[in-house]
Amino acid sequence: MTGIGPVQAVVFDAYGTLFDIHAPTAKAAETMGDDAKADALGKLWREKQLQYSWLRSLMGHYVDFWTVTQDGLDYALEALDLADPDLRKRLLDLYFELDAYPDAISTLERLKAAGMRTGILSNGSKDMLSAAVSSSGADAHLDAVLSVADAHVFKPDGVVYALAEGRFGVRASEMAFVSCNGWDAWASAAYGFRTVWLNRFGLPPERLPGEPKAVIASLDELPALITSA
Ligand code: LAC
Repeated sequence: MTGIGPVQAVVFDAYGTLFDIHAPTAKAAETMGDDAKADALGKLWREKQLQYSWLRSLMGHYVDFWTVTQDGLDYALEALDLADPDLRKRLLDLYFELDAYPDAISTLERLKAAGMRTGILSNGSKDMLSAAVSSSGADAHLDAVLSVADAHVFKPDGVVYALAEGRFGVRASEMAFVSCNGWDAWASAAYGFRTVWLNRFGLPPERLPGEPKAVIASLDELPALITSA
């Protein structure tokens, strides 16, 4: 695969890209005793979490991503007839300190070893991000962890993408942006980043403005696409 052109920094989405958002429901499936229902819960939880972030942005009613994460979980638990305070607490505890995907830390290490600046730009609240970044060990390989908390609106609002330009002092066109979320990949490309869509889940391309410069199935493929400006 050809590269995405020279860049001065590589910025990552967090949830689903570096951190395994399906780990909490997979772990809880052992106690739930129903893998299919745990899988459905994980998917609906994520769907509602994101939906609430977009709707609140449109409505002008920002709350932090931890609140949106809890609201999405409560909806999903009730919809699937799984409402139970112990299960709710266990899932939220697991979500707060997520594991990194196996390809995440090694990729950050490789990029840092090549002298690249790296960062996270995420919907996550500052305390969620700092817990996940330190529990996964990613903190040693990141120059910046940027939260939408400073913008009071969620991705894909351009105000959020601009936070990365401000922090690194570099235009989006000179930075790589990596996301597993199709909507985030297309929107960041439309904003002007050199976007790599990490298609972890084998999904079709989005029908939205913007187009990623490259599509990969694993972060292991990323360093070969990146050259320093
Ligand atoms: C994030 C979510 C959207 O980290 O994945 O911003």
